[in-house]
Amino acid sequence: MNKNMITILAIESSCDETSAAICSDGKILSNIIVNQTIHEKYGGVVPELASRAHLQNIVPVVDEALSTINYDLSTVDAFAFTQSPGLIGSLLVGAQFAKSMALAMDKPLIAVHHLQAHVLANLIPDKKPGFPFLCLTVSGGHTQIILCEDYLKMKIIGETLDDAAGEAFDKSAKILGLPYPGGPLIDKYAQGGDGNKFKFPEPQIDGLNFSFSGLKTAFLYFIQNEKLKNKNFAEENLEDICASIQQRIVSILLNKLKKAAAKTGIKNVCIAGGVSANKGLRRSFENLGKEMNWNTFIPPFEYCTDNAAMIAITAYYKYLAADFSELSVSPSARAEW
Ligand code: KG4
Ligand code: ZN
Repeated sequence: MNKNMITILAIESSCDETSAAICSDGKILSNIIVNQTIHEKYGGVVPELASRAHLQNIVPVVDEALSTINYDLSTVDAFAFTQSPGLIGSLLVGAQFAKSMALAMDKPLIAVHHLQAHVLANLIPDKKPGFPFLCLTVSGGHTQIILCEDYLKMKIIGETLDDAAGEAFDKSAKILGLPYPGGPLIDKYAQGGDGNKFKFPEPQIDGLNFSFSGLKTAFLYFIQNEKLKNKNFAEENLEDICASIQQRIVSILLNKLKKAAAKTGIKNVCIAGGVSANKGLRRSFENLGKEMNWNTFIPPFEYCTDNAAMIAITAYYKYLAADFSELSVSPSARAEW
């Protein structure tokens, strides 16, 4: 290892994934993610169980992030963590751990905003977008169109007024009786289905903002009505239903992204966040990019859903900008950029 390299150890613990990553000079060397399966039977993340599971996972996860690349703590130049937004009990575990290591090793601490990190996950692969670029960030809690002018200079130019795209996936899955998180299951069943079979409404929202709550209600009533006629409707038509709801969510997202690109004149366009793992969204986004002559960027799967690699890459740029935090910094469930 080159001693002049800047090595960051980052922790992500904002929701139900415990993750640790090591990055040297902007290159990800390890990224360990442990998913918490305990929430499946509750149909959603139980905050108290999530923070307890983080407490159990954090030491082995950090240990593995270091040991898989034969690094030890003394090689680390700064410790980073997700400061916000997220579940407060979960954030606290990562924050306290990173602070303790920074204090013990006498190294700087870097606080990272989870949503900025999702955007900058696009800077992990060798093929990176130039500035300025647009990023559609679609996760379980957020749906945003970001105008990214520089590494740490971003503004939100469109966002959801109610549910996030990930919630639209998860709630539709729940209506179909699928376990949490249902987004990946809708993706799976959609692959064998016909997306034009059932029609769901596209909300008419001005500007670059989104709304998904009307779609959720329309979907609920549609399934309830069809079940009155045939109680096995959902099971018998699962693939076509999943393909159709997925197609509508994707078209809502991409129509707004198209509008944002036209309005800003920006041709470097990215997607990010858990929902960007969706195969239908990835395929339609690539096709739209070809049609519109965009340069398109999508993070590899492991950097779409929550992961510490994206925290590490963001912390690396913060390190270069000497943007460090005091040990007194607190995590926050909600926070501005
Ligand atoms: O970014 P993320 O891991 O966590 C948050 O910051 O919220 O996103 C989680 C969301 C969940 O709603 C999950 O269902 C959705 O991303 N998701 C997917 C897929 N993989 C994850 N939605 C649709 N298709 C997928 N393949
Ligand atoms: Zn996330």
